[in-house]
Amino acid sequence: MKILNFGSLNIDKVYKVKHFVRPGETIFSKEYQCFPGGKGLNQSIAAARAGVPIYHAGTIGPDGRFLAELLKESGVDTRYLRENGSITGHALNSGFRRRGKTASSFFTAANYENGREFINQVLEDFGEGDILVLQNEISNLPYLLEKGAAMGMRILFNPSPMNESLKKTDLSGVTWLMLNETEGNDITGASDPDRITEILLEKYPQMKVILTLGRKGAVYKSAEECVYQPCFPVNAVDTTAAGDTFTGYFIAAIVEGKTMQEALRLAACASSITVSREGAAVSIPERTLVDERVRQLDKGN
Ligand code: RIB
Repeated sequence: MKILNFGSLNIDKVYKVKHFVRPGETIFSKEYQCFPGGKGLNQSIAAARAGVPIYHAGTIGPDGRFLAELLKESGVDTRYLRENGSITGHALNSGFRRRGKTASSFFTAANYENGREFINQVLEDFGEGDILVLQNEISNLPYLLEKGAAMGMRILFNPSPMNESLKKTDLSGVTWLMLNETEGNDITGASDPDRITEILLEKYPQMKVILTLGRKGAVYKSAEECVYQPCFPVNAVDTTAAGDTFTGYFIAAIVEGKTMQEALRLAACASSITVSREGAAVSIPERTLVDERVRQLDKGN
């Protein structure tokens, strides 16, 4: 069984501000940082740091070579990562430290140059039972969802960032849907977490839904099982990549055959470490640290 993440790679440009800019306003920032990021890259790095072999496919420009290097150093197989002449995707984040919150704009660039021919070439090396990890930051997403499902791949889909076309996308080929409450509300129209999972399972009875609830933790729901995981209290410095860390560690736990309670606990613990650090990929912890933290929590420390 192989894991393929067909996903985005971004250069995250982060500007510290006192508050988010309002229409017509100009604000000053005196602190700037540049981080490796992109939901796809972050998730691959999280899975690799959690200890599972993962392939990352996607497109960067020459300015994104350091992203490829970071993937390799983190243990991700980059043979399906392509460089073309375009600009690498960018995320422009404004953040204010007090609440660890950020607001983002996303410049798609090379992430939107994954054509069908390239996708077909990559997928040729994968097959039934393999896991395909997807988010909504690359081109040809509906094609990937359709083709992966037709090949019998098990798809873990994170519908983020949400957009209008995604609300109408057929998700019947998705095995695991990993989403937050806002995305759940956009897809189902419901705001209550129980109602969100109920509507999703009515429409897609085969689906396993993992709904993250911010400070309230996360809930897993399938036709057979319902598991709740509270979140671990932490001093949040930067929430960027928290969801991606959760996704990567969740994949690792699934591959290792952990129970759903164990999988959610591991993912929630990893993600709590990520929010206590600044940046995207650089804030994702190694497995040894996460295991140690889980042991401490088990002992009640
Ligand atoms: O999920 C966090 C990521 O979303 C950031 O790294 C940024 O690149 C955006 O894509």
